[in-house]
Amino acid sequence: MEFDPVLTWDRLAESWDAAMGTEGNDYFTVIELPALERMVQPKPGDRALDLATGNGLVAHWLAQKGASVLATDGSPAMIVHAQARQAMRFKGIEVESLVAYGVLDVTNPLHFEELISSDRGGPFDIITMNMAIMDVSTLEHLANALPRLLKNGGGRFVATLLHPLFTCGVTRSVEYSDNPKSGREEAVYTLKMSKYLHVPPSKGVATQSQPHSQLYFHRPIHELFSPFFRAGLILDALEEPNFDEAYTKANDLKLGSLRQFTQFPKLLAFRLKRA
Ligand SMILES: C[S@@+](CC[C@H](N)C(=O)[O-])C[C@H]1O[C@@H](n2cnc3c(N)ncnc32)[C@H](O)[C@@H]1O
Repeated sequence: MEFDPVLTWDRLAESWDAAMGTEGNDYFTVIELPALERMVQPKPGDRALDLATGNGLVAHWLAQKGASVLATDGSPAMIVHAQARQAMRFKGIEVESLVAYGVLDVTNPLHFEELISSDRGGPFDIITMNMAIMDVSTLEHLANALPRLLKNGGGRFVATLLHPLFTCGVTRSVEYSDNPKSGREEAVYTLKMSKYLHVPPSKGVATQSQPHSQLYFHRPIHELFSPFFRAGLILDALEEPNFDEAYTKANDLKLGSLRQFTQFPKLLAFRLKRA
């Protein structure tokens, strides 16, 4: 399938920026950011690289924690939005000089070589890639670059992605049954899965408001991690963050919203370090 990530995401940049806004949507605030906080633990003076930054949510959070950040994305249009969001997020805090911006396509090995040989090329205490691994066609070049970009010792790569449960073409259903204990009707949220190991790239949307679809690259868990393990990285934290019942009860969600499937994690979050 012909797929040009730069062109695709350039055309999605405006709608993505509008959907995330300055604070990020509930995926970001309720499940992504807490996982990042637990796994990244940024501190003042850290050097950070944010890959696939989008409109800069994670890059700006890292800067607010005192890190100096290089925010990158494969899409130049997305970088323009990230730069524009900076002033709205920092609201007068003097962190301007802490964030630099650049274009970096994580599927392009030359982009990594350019970064590594430049004076911005690390080594980094923190490398993040929030909710983008399922959007990229290959992880090979990223995996090979990480050991050269991360600091030995405390350097950490933290990524979140749409859980592979939701990139394999699963059928979702909402049925109703009577709860024998309460006597009340209740909704039952079910996933029906017919394939998991071998699933070709498929069209999907990251936000319901976007003007056209993009491609999702499903990877079963062993395929997700194998390029990183081959490159000598070690997995030292893994989580499956999710919305909980309290959140779904407190919020007026559209029927069938994925958030209501509280038994099935929406995200996979993980941390890798150099061996
Ligand atoms: C779902 S958005 C996530 C953005 C941001 N990390 C966040 O959490 O809000 C996916 C991002 O991945 C970027 N992206 C897609 N393919 C890429 C590639 N090959 N290299 C770098 N960035 C890419 C897109 O431009 C987009 O900004």
